[in-house]
Amino acid sequence: MELSDFGDANVNINDILSSRPVVPLVRADDPAVAVKTSEALAKGGLTVVEVVFRTDRALECLRAVADEVPDMIAGAGTVLSAGQADAAVDNGARFIVSPGLDDGVVGVARERGVPVYPGTMTPSEVQHAFNLGLDTVKFFPGSLAGGVPMLKALGSVFRTMKFMPTGGVGPGNLGEFLGVPAVLACGGSWLTPAAEIAAGNYEAVTRLAAEAVGIAGAARGQHHG
Ligand code: 3PG
Repeated sequence: MELSDFGDANVNINDILSSRPVVPLVRADDPAVAVKTSEALAKGGLTVVEVVFRTDRALECLRAVADEVPDMIAGAGTVLSAGQADAAVDNGARFIVSPGLDDGVVGVARERGVPVYPGTMTPSEVQHAFNLGLDTVKFFPGSLAGGVPMLKALGSVFRTMKFMPTGGVGPGNLGEFLGVPAVLACGGSWLTPAAEIAAGNYEAVTRLAAEAVGIAGAARGQHHG
């Protein structure tokens, strides 16, 4: 998969995530900051960003990243309702992430033809997602919800389901999470520290992204240049 393939709306995001299995969160209230943060992440070797709906201008930030950072696949995170999911896709989201599992959000994602990664943390939630036809779910909050042992237990029962743990993931445990066969990718905010971004230190973001790419490559036995 080449970076130039990313402009293709039909590109399979799960394929991209399996080769670069790290999803950084971008939480910005200024589109210019969202763009600079995403560019810094791309420079570090990451290919996917989740722009979270936790600020008043999150939609504008998403639109800016989708339009101005062609090396990145931009998705929307912290999508809580069907209406927000629609707005996300209207503003360029190529995928949707939710903290929980909501049938309305899943329905909009399906109608609009974008992948959706709803949050789960119990077998019942994973089973519900399975019966909605989903093959990949977020596992949130990953550390508090049982971490690696819980993912192994869920993976042994839901043999076809892939998980995206987020919440408490960082350089210290990323490799361990990615070592679980059922884990597709990990997400988190550790790659975009608010203090560094506020100080305009985008090089720190690039360094954290490159570190994560290195950890992921080692965990998956891949080598990335
Ligand atoms: C999420 O939305 O996935 C979480 O806020 C990520 O948690 P983290 O801040 O611990 O990485």
